[in-house]
Amino acid sequence: MPTILILGATSDMGIAIAKLFAERKFAIQLASRDTLKLLPLQSDLSIRYNIHCSIHQFDAVDFASHKPFYDALSPKPDIAVCVFGYMNDNETVIDDQQETLKTIHTNYTGTVSILNIVAKDYASKKQGSIVGISSVAGERGRQSNYIYGSAKAGFTAYLSGLRNKLHEKGVHVVTVLPGFVYTKMTEHLNLPKLLTAQPNDVAQSIYNAVQKRKNIVYVKWFWRWIMCIIKLIPEPVFKRMKL
Ligand SMILES: NC(=O)c1ccc[n+]([C@@H]2O[C@H](COP(=O)([O-])OP(=O)(O)OC[C@H]3O[C@@H](n4cnc5c(N)ncnc54)[C@H](OP(=O)(O)O)[C@@H]3O)[C@@H](O)[C@H]2O)c1
Repeated sequence: MPTILILGATSDMGIAIAKLFAERKFAIQLASRDTLKLLPLQSDLSIRYNIHCSIHQFDAVDFASHKPFYDALSPKPDIAVCVFGYMNDNETVIDDQQETLKTIHTNYTGTVSILNIVAKDYASKKQGSIVGISSVAGERGRQSNYIYGSAKAGFTAYLSGLRNKLHEKGVHVVTVLPGFVYTKMTEHLNLPKLLTAQPNDVAQSIYNAVQKRKNIVYVKWFWRWIMCIIKLIPEPVFKRMKL
């Protein structure tokens, strides 16, 4: 039975990913800061799908704990999905240094810290899939979201480099760009219905991406074109826009 590790398993996307892979008979390793929160999901998945599901304590910003965390996993996962992330209102974030650092460390430093460890293991075994959930917010900095966006831009660049490095080892690395998704992270926002995906759509895209060893996935196809247009706007025009 193949095993998938979900880092940030209390998230709405993490739960959807866990359910979909459990349905497809994967063993599931759920990891999050608060393991108590994972107990109902663990028992639901184990009973409903008759698969092995374990829970693990993981804090993305406790960098020193990442190596012992990964060393303790048994078996080692065949697929590692980095779902955790943090987004707060940009004005609040820039006014508060702790919030700035939390945004950068959760979305960038934490992902790099844990994935370097996973990548080393997969490179030595010459197999494995690494899934990173980044964001279209990382494709061009906008005044409304540039701290979160810049951390995601760093993560996207990291995943690109990792994919480039691990290709010859036969290790698969996919960058997932969900666009807007209805989750706890965005529940206070008034998202445009037509442009917004559900957590289940993200889970299905990830499952397909792993099966087909895709490189970069936009959960809703039109986000590729929206971002293409946004990136083409000349800087003298872009800086005057309130985006
Ligand atoms: N929703 C969107 O529109 C959207 C769009 C593009 C990309 N994304 C990205 O998609 C991913 C999933 O987000 P979501 O929308 O499903 O949000 P969510 O439901 O708010 O989930 C965020 C997750 O991150 C975890 N987390 C935060 N800080 C952590 C830390 N220090 N260590 C470990 N886990 C931590 C949270 O765990 P706790 O339960 O412990 O708080 C929670 O599981 C994120 O990377 C997000 O940036 C979201």
